[in-house]
Amino acid sequence: MSVRRLHSEQPESFEFSAENLEWARNVIGRYPEGRQASAVIPLLTRAQEQEGWVTQPAIEYVADMLSMPYIRVLEVATFYTQFLLQPVGKKAHIQVCGTTPCRLRGAGDLIRVCKNKIADKQFALSEDGDFSWEEVECAGACVNAPMIQISKDTYEDLTPEIFEELIDKIAAGKAVEPGSQTGRQGSAPATGPVTLTDPSLYDGSRVKWGLGAEMDEPEDEVETAEGAKKDAQSDATEGGQPDSSAESGMPVLLREPLDGKADNLKEISGIGPKIEQKLNGVGVFHFAQIAQWTDENIAFIDSQLAFRGRIARENWIEQAKVLASGAETDFSKRVQAGAVSSSKSGGDA
Ligand code: FES
Repeated sequence: MSVRRLHSEQPESFEFSAENLEWARNVIGRYPEGRQASAVIPLLTRAQEQEGWVTQPAIEYVADMLSMPYIRVLEVATFYTQFLLQPVGKKAHIQVCGTTPCRLRGAGDLIRVCKNKIADKQFALSEDGDFSWEEVECAGACVNAPMIQISKDTYEDLTPEIFEELIDKIAAGKAVEPGSQTGRQGSAPATGPVTLTDPSLYDGSRVKWGLGAEMDEPEDEVETAEGAKKDAQSDATEGGQPDSSAESGMPVLLREPLDGKADNLKEISGIGPKIEQKLNGVGVFHFAQIAQWTDENIAFIDSQLAFRGRIARENWIEQAKVLASGAETDFSKRVQAGAVSSSKSGGDA
C-alpha cells in the first residue's frame, strides 16, 4: 500500500459550490449538537466529487465547517483510500485490489493492464490525462475477485481481456455496468446458483402473504396457491372438510388472482363491492379460498377486516363451497341475471 501524503502542489483555496454548501449544511444538521464531526466523511466525499480529489484547502475548509482541528480531518483523509490526495484521471481513477484473494485470482494481470494502457507508475496520468490507477487493499468484494473500483462502483470477476474492454468503453464514453462482468448473479457460485433454484420460489406461487403473514415458513409447510385452490375445489365437490391452511389462523392469500381472473365474490350473498374490494386487497380472489376457511381463518379475516361475525352469520363458507364446485346458488343466479343491484348485492356496511 502506498504512503498517503498530501500532494506537493495544492490550489490556493477551496469552497463548496452554493448547491454543495446547502447540501453540507443539511448533512451537518442531521447530527446532534456537539457531534457535527460525524459528518466529516460525507463532506470530504462531496469535496472530492466537486474537485476530483481532496486538496489541503478542502481539508481545512471541512475542518472549519465542523469545528475540528485540521489534523483530525487530515487523519481521516489520509487513512481511507477512497479519498484521492492528488489529481487523478479525468474519466476514471482505477483502484485495483491487490490483497490476497484478488492476487490469487489474477490481480497481478490487472495491474499489468494498468501499466500498459494507463501509465507505468501508480497515480501517474495517462498521456491524455483521462486515466490513472493505484493498487489498494481489500475493497470487500473478494468473493468475486479479482476486482477494481472506480469512484463508488466496483467491477468484479475481471480477466485482463474484460478489463481492457472496460477501459476502452470508458475512454469512448460508453456506458459500463458495475458488478460482476461475467454475469454472475450477486455472489453466487461462478458456475451459477446450486441452491434455491426452483423457479416457483420466485414466481409468487409458493408465497402466503398478507396481514400478519409469516414469510419464512418451513418449505414443507408451504402450500402452493394453485394447490390450495384445487384442494378447496376437491373438498367442496366431495363435501369433505378442507384442511386449515395456516396454523396461525391466516388463510391462504394470493398476490393476484390465479390465471389473472378473479371470481365474482359478489355472487356470495353478503359480499358487496366494498367487501369484495377489501377481500381482494388482502389476497382473497376465489370462491375456493373462502370455501376452505376454518374457524381460525374466519376469526383471522374477521379481526383484520372488521366483518363483525358476518362471515358465519351470512354463511359465506357454504355458499363458497357450492360456487367453487362450479354449481350455482339461487343468489348467484340472480346476480348473474342482473337482478341484484351492486349496491344491494352484498349489503356492504
Ligand atoms: S481481496 Fe480483493 S476485494 Fe477483498
